[in-house]
Amino acid sequence: MFYEPKDGHGLAKNPFNSLVVPRPIGWITTVDQAGNVNLAPYSFFNGVAYNPPTVMFSAGASRIEGTDGRKDSLRNALETGEFVHNFATWDTREAMNQTSADLGPDQDEMALAGLTPIASTLVKPPRVKESPIQFECKVVQSVELPNTKGEHLYTVVFGEVVGIHIADDLIMDNGQIDIGKLHPIARMGYQDYSEVTDDTVFTMERPGFHPYT
Ligand SMILES: Cc1cc2nc3c(=O)[nH]c(=O)nc-3n(C[C@H](O)[C@H](O)[C@H](O)COP(=O)(O)O)c2cc1C
Repeated sequence: MFYEPKDGHGLAKNPFNSLVVPRPIGWITTVDQAGNVNLAPYSFFNGVAYNPPTVMFSAGASRIEGTDGRKDSLRNALETGEFVHNFATWDTREAMNQTSADLGPDQDEMALAGLTPIASTLVKPPRVKESPIQFECKVVQSVELPNTKGEHLYTVVFGEVVGIHIADDLIMDNGQIDIGKLHPIARMGYQDYSEVTDDTVFTMERPGFHPYT
């Protein structure tokens, strides 16, 4: 089939989420100007630069009445210039899902999901203790995405990763990250996810290219 998204897809459910998979999940902590903590998952998330390490997340419009139309993570990141990304793992999957609840700006999803906030080193938003890897990020740019209807429903936030925490037990004797122990989860389409385990990882040497030192 071929379809132009502006005209609709004709399928029972929009397939787009299933066509860009698997997606890493940015599990984003922010604080508002009063210090209220916010935590939410964003699978329109990725690493976009290696040096300096830079990530992005993309937030759609808020469905909560009485807000300015922006999701809390977006508003907070833009107002304070800071966010933290917490790595979503198999062990944190239920809590991660719970933190996607549509709550008001003054409600703390971290507390709701029974997670433990711990202080960051360089930025105000706290980290999720239960997550074994956290990136402390400073916003470097945001882009409102225009679409063919002239609407700007999504805003992409780029953040330079200024501090990286890695649980020591994930670092193997050879200095590499133990992906099996980390047990990442990723977003698929619909309500589906996938997991990464030791037996689903495979290695391919890239010809004549060894930059990862
Ligand atoms: C796994 C997962 C991935 C999500 N990815 C996104 C995303 O990329 N962009 C988005 O706007 N909402 C996404 N959502 C929905 C938000 O998490 C949800 O709207 C949340 O309430 C936003 O919270 P906030 O207003 O506190 O930022 C996702 C939800 C889940 C469960």
